[in-house]
Amino acid sequence: MDRPDRPDPTDRPDPTDRPDRPDRTDRPQTVGQLAGILRQGGYLADRGLATALFVGLSLQRPILLEGEVGVGKTEVAKVLATVLGRRLIRLQCYEGIDTNQALYEWDYARQMLAIRALSERQVADDEAVDKLFGPRYLLERPLLEAVRAGDQAVLLIDEVDRADDEFEAFLLEVLSDFQISIPEIGTIRAQTPPLVVLTSNRTRELHDALKRRCLYHWIGYPPAEREVEIVLVREPGVSHTLARKVVAAVNRLRELDLAKPPGVAETIDWARTLDFLGGDDFTTAAAADTLGAVVKERDDLELVRDNLEEITSGG
Ligand SMILES: Nc1ncnc2c1ncn2[C@@H]1O[C@H](COP(=O)(O)OP(=O)(O)OP(=O)(O)O)[C@@H](O)[C@H]1O
Ligand SMILES: [Mg+2]
Repeated sequence: MDRPDRPDPTDRPDPTDRPDRPDRTDRPQTVGQLAGILRQGGYLADRGLATALFVGLSLQRPILLEGEVGVGKTEVAKVLATVLGRRLIRLQCYEGIDTNQALYEWDYARQMLAIRALSERQVADDEAVDKLFGPRYLLERPLLEAVRAGDQAVLLIDEVDRADDEFEAFLLEVLSDFQISIPEIGTIRAQTPPLVVLTSNRTRELHDALKRRCLYHWIGYPPAEREVEIVLVREPGVSHTLARKVVAAVNRLRELDLAKPPGVAETIDWARTLDFLGGDDFTTAAAADTLGAVVKERDDLELVRDNLEEITSGG
């Protein structure tokens, strides 16, 4: 499912480089510029990803990122928020998540305290009771927070495939019009929508309706040179030689039939661990000692140990 190697985007003229565009200083003007500021933030995006993000940002469309485990889906939203100077609002999805946890809840504890403090006369007074369902007692959850923050925020809806169907349908509704109705308070609408990044590990297929609303991008494992660069950006202390050897070995691991193939996160971890223990030395023995950084399943460990000589040779 990996993408073929692509030439470095900086080598090609940038078709989004249009001098006739009105100048907006609050967001990058070209795909290249966006890739550049992401790089400054420590994230290396290939041309396809940078383009999807640029279009999403410019045309206010949500972006759906699918891909292997540990290839930088969540990280790109975090780095985007940092480099754009926006607030990161994260909605972590899980089985059984419901609308209360995503939108808002009433602060029952404070409401109870307030009720106790009411005198008998006040309890009979509608206005005093109405206040109990006012903004003071409203607990914002990520979606409401994001609607309120508008384009000052990056909304990360992480691992949406873990949520169930009904929740996905509800998300679709929120993403359609960025407004939330609270019966006791009224409708809250985003002036300009936040940048929305959804991620999925494809533990189940998402619905077409949700996909249709989003720009879709698949993040595969990066080509070897890019992965070496990612290791060096994330772990500047690691030598180029060690990074190259580790990336070569990880790529061989990915060719084995592992239950949990290593992602970029594991490559970085392995390089960091080896560097900590002994610099550039990437012997079979050193690899065997540090496999825990990169292989996280018992059966996988056995398979890898049986092929370790081959995995660590060359690079
Ligand atoms: N293109 C990249 N540039 C810089 N760092 C990267 C890149 N891709 C991955 N990483 C590194 O890999 C780590 C793991 O990435 P992240 O957690 O975003 O993966 P993920 O795709 O969300 O994984 P999961 O599916 O497990 O949630 C990040 O902390 C980051 O250090
Ligand atoms: Mg993630």
